[in-house]
Amino acid sequence: MKRLEPSLLAADLYRLPAQMEAAERGGAAAWHLDIMDGHFVPNLSFGPHVCEGIRKHTALPVTAHLMVERPSRFIRPFLDAGAGAVLLHAETEPERLPELLRSVRDAGAEPGVVLRPKTPPETVLPYLPAIGRVLLMSVEPGYGGQALLPESFGRIRALRRLIERENPAVLLALDGGVTPENAPALLEAGVDVFVAGSSVFGAPDIETRCREFCGVLRHEP
Ligand code: DX5
Ligand code: ZN
Repeated sequence: MKRLEPSLLAADLYRLPAQMEAAERGGAAAWHLDIMDGHFVPNLSFGPHVCEGIRKHTALPVTAHLMVERPSRFIRPFLDAGAGAVLLHAETEPERLPELLRSVRDAGAEPGVVLRPKTPPETVLPYLPAIGRVLLMSVEPGYGGQALLPESFGRIRALRRLIERENPAVLLALDGGVTPENAPALLEAGVDVFVAGSSVFGAPDIETRCREFCGVLRHEP
């Protein structure tokens, strides 16, 4: 099943409940929460208490995308804050990654591996048997509102092939510059989970925009 995962980085925090309700009515499947530490990426965003606050008021699961230099410090706080999936960059603490992914799974949450745009797709190979999803960045992480890098299409196809070969149960998620305009081509290339920030929360009508996205995603290639 293909899914839309709106990224709350682009939401208007003053209107957050209304914007989340609109996205949920429009068919959003989960909330994407970008965690930035000002080191791994040059920006700051949300901490575990934000995850906890959101979890209290929504039925949809929260995905924590950890863009931090030391994810080992933050996994437990986000699990305790109710994150349903914790996604770790392959570039951070690589020697500890197998153990960290296992700790997410042992806690009953979904572990995932994230690749920056220049990290080779094959980097995920050792982790595929033990994760629920791969998240491919289609922009340099750190900021919302950037255009999707065109080379992402080749990378999606390469990852799709690796997933089909090694563990077809793994979902392929894409993050950065996803819009209703490029969604059909991304779907065709093999994306399962569509993370979208500005194209959802920057829309004049969030519910209608999510319906538009979900309409595209229903047409599996
Ligand atoms: C970027 C974040 C994304 C971001 C996507 O570092 O990981 O989740 O919110 O935003 P858009 O959809 O605006 O590119
Ligand atoms: Zn993200």
